[in-house]
Amino acid sequence: MFVNDCLNVNEKGHLTIGGCDTVELAEKYGTPLYVLDENTIRDTCRSYVNSFKKYYNGNGMPLYASKTLSCKEMCRIANEENLGLDVVSGGEIYTAVQADFPMEKVHFHGNNKTAEEIRFALDSKVGKFVVDNLYELELLNEIAKEKGVVANISFRIKPGVDAHTHNFIRTGQIDSKFGFALETGEAFEAVKKALTYDNVALKELHCHIGSQIFDIEPFVTAAEIMLDFMGKIKDELNVVITELNLGGGFGIMYTEDDEPVPYENYMEKVSEAVKAKAQEHNLPVPYIYIEPGRSIVGEAGITLYTVGGKKIIPDVRTYVSVDGGMTDNIRYALYQSAYTVVNASKADKEATEIVTVAGKCCESGDLVQEHTKIAEVEVGDTLAVLSTGAYNYSMASNYNRIPRPAMVMVNNGESRVIIKRESYEDLVRNDL
Ligand code: LLP
Repeated sequence: MFVNDCLNVNEKGHLTIGGCDTVELAEKYGTPLYVLDENTIRDTCRSYVNSFKKYYNGNGMPLYASKTLSCKEMCRIANEENLGLDVVSGGEIYTAVQADFPMEKVHFHGNNKTAEEIRFALDSKVGKFVVDNLYELELLNEIAKEKGVVANISFRIKPGVDAHTHNFIRTGQIDSKFGFALETGEAFEAVKKALTYDNVALKELHCHIGSQIFDIEPFVTAAEIMLDFMGKIKDELNVVITELNLGGGFGIMYTEDDEPVPYENYMEKVSEAVKAKAQEHNLPVPYIYIEPGRSIVGEAGITLYTVGGKKIIPDVRTYVSVDGGMTDNIRYALYQSAYTVVNASKADKEATEIVTVAGKCCESGDLVQEHTKIAEVEVGDTLAVLSTGAYNYSMASNYNRIPRPAMVMVNNGESRVIIKRESYEDLVRNDL
């Protein structure tokens, strides 16, 4: 009935998530409210881990891309489900440390890691630095030398595969702020340079080809290109790189138009290609990392709002105003992202009304969704926007001094707060 398996409708006609009545959740915790279903998150983590066991002799590890939703509880869940972590900032490292995450399973990304972040990452014993450029390589080598340590590194490579939602192109990714280009020889030069430094150890190569991707083919192509490069490094430099990180990007369902492939199909196809290429180049079959983010938390999350007003503009449109908006979900304003909106108070009723759901910011572009079909809305109804677990809380802001919503985890009819709602005092905490 819904795009997300954890959703249902109860005898009151209310939307439920993980066995909890969303209207009751809205009353108990207030709105706007982010709600996550724990079983959905854990099931997805397990399907990734199991796909490595099934198709790759368990010779790899998924890393949860914590930029998607970084908080202590997500770090704990990723750890309990045997995932590593991909972090992109000192703040994400700090969150992992605070959650007692095993830091050797953390990969540190970013195209402009500051010296301060590098120091903090080394002190926190982060497992691997995914080096983006030569300045960073040099800086990391210097700081590691100062500290008397050797940092394990990976190189972020632009494989020349640019994947969009339903298609991909094999060239044209040179224009990206991330990583080293293969075509120009830049990546090869970086590898040679790393071999001359004493305080970095090159262990891995990394690529990431995009996000919200539904085809497996571009991932396979990228893996093949990376293995070819590993073959070149072995043949020309006599160096064998034994680990390969293929990034994230697996698509999820926002609306019925989206058709994600089962996540384990990915490992099935990619492992075949990796094994074949390893044999062709006489390389050991590499240890593989992947970095799913959106697919782990996206469909597990919904956002609940309360309707505060309705403006019917004849022959134009009907605006329904909710008590959140671009401050908790910037994705429509930024990318015109499609979402499914459900009248959670009347989830058993047919969707008959076409409305534009507007946020409460002083900004005309503060819309959650335009011209969306929904069961007739009245002031006081609880609205649910589906598939908001990824890149919503993590991209939230305090524009208009609106406090960030709370986040609640549900599990088989039980609910608990995992992130507190911000208070007005929180908003002025750093004001002098
Ligand atoms: N690894 C790397 C190096 C990445 O850059 C990303 C996402 C991921 C993994 C995780 O990709 P995922 O599995 O979540 O697709 N804010 C945008 C998405 C930006 C993605 C950035 N990188 C959005 O809201 O759609």
